[in-house]
Amino acid sequence: MGAVRDAVMATLGSAEPASLPALVVRCMACGAAFAGDRPLTRCETCGGLLDVDLALDRPVRADAFGVGLPPTLRHSGVWRYRPLLPALPDDAIVSRWEGNTPLYEDGRLGEYAGLGAGELRLKHEGHNPTASFKDRGMTVGVSHARAVGARIVACASTGNTSASLASYAAAAGLPALVLIPEGKISGGKLAQTIAYGARVVQIAGDFDQALTLLRELTDAYDVYLVNSVNPFRLEGQKTIVFEMLEQLDWQVPDVIALPGGNLGNTAAFGKALAELLAVGLIDRLPKLAVVQAAGAAPFAAYHAGGYARFEAVVAETIATAIKIGNPASTARARRSIEGTIGLVTTVTDGEIMDAKAAIDRVGIGCEPASAASLAGLRRLVAEGRIAPDARAVGVLTGHVLKDADAVVAYHLADHDGAAREGANRPVSIAATLPALERTLHDALHG
Ligand code: F0G
Repeated sequence: MGAVRDAVMATLGSAEPASLPALVVRCMACGAAFAGDRPLTRCETCGGLLDVDLALDRPVRADAFGVGLPPTLRHSGVWRYRPLLPALPDDAIVSRWEGNTPLYEDGRLGEYAGLGAGELRLKHEGHNPTASFKDRGMTVGVSHARAVGARIVACASTGNTSASLASYAAAAGLPALVLIPEGKISGGKLAQTIAYGARVVQIAGDFDQALTLLRELTDAYDVYLVNSVNPFRLEGQKTIVFEMLEQLDWQVPDVIALPGGNLGNTAAFGKALAELLAVGLIDRLPKLAVVQAAGAAPFAAYHAGGYARFEAVVAETIATAIKIGNPASTARARRSIEGTIGLVTTVTDGEIMDAKAAIDRVGIGCEPASAASLAGLRRLVAEGRIAPDARAVGVLTGHVLKDADAVVAYHLADHDGAAREGANRPVSIAATLPALERTLHDALHG
């Protein structure tokens, strides 16, 4: 053991110290400030969560975005917002032209949510290079890793973070170590992570145990952790909100709904909105609406109890991406919800899969966890917590192909010998024109 430890230490200990004077991180609990030239993921004074402190004390104009940047950064839907991001050196930045995702609108989904008298738009983060929103955070996290001279980058994951890290680490030429709960992430995400060359470690445990174990490792060794406890990763995820607001011509919607798992996005969205307000790009805040799966809803329970006592749970949901029982960014998420007078709700697996089928059916498509946004909006409208004429944006966090098994199970599985209502089963026919003609007739007449 000692020999392994010494050999690892000898390899990791040789990084050049970085000089990054413009970077400051600050503890959200005690306010202590630290230089951002090291991979810090918790406050060294009190153990609290850290934020990158951008000291945004001057107005920023919308027409400043993308101006004066090298082409690779100008075309990134993350780095074009550089005036609102940490000042990392150009030569450290690893970008895959992430972001630039569509903001869809389809009246049928507005009706589904109960917002027929209002407006529903869907920001589709599945249109990122590795098909989830994680790429926006990863470009900043891995670039910071390079800037501070990291030798290896690591994450625990329910699948999307690992796919994204594997891709960006490969781009950066850095080795990546990934911890996943064995048998509990989708095949597509595992395939991506393997294909992009990360070292995949499957643990006999759930995501929460994987993250706890990895933090023990990164506390003991100079291994760069890119989970959302890393404040630089959240900086990239802020750009979902920046890009959404820009696509809405800076007209603030009433509600932004998103799924809540480890609560990194909830944290990032709250920070993004506060910063847009501070630099004068918006003049009011939308409500953030966080939607958790009913079987993985410790934050919803914490919120419902007036934030008196947080209790972790053992998570269980079909939406494996958000199967998380002890979210790392709980305190930051509370700040986001309190700061936007936001909403928190839960939805059942059945509601998630029905909302997903509705999103898929109009040709947009998303993975199960993403559909929690629409399912949550529908529930909040039905409960009268969101007005039916509200302007809402739901965030679709991942692509439909991320979890093909979930699609097959929904549409092809037997439900007591019968197909589920609304199931779209392929038909098999003889290779003859009459058989095909009968199929054409059925397709036209239902
Ligand atoms: N949606 C998808 C598709 C996700 O992959 C995740 C998180 C979330 C929503 C929840 O976001 O954690 O910011 O609240 N996936 C992580 C992972 C945990 O490892 O890929 P959050």
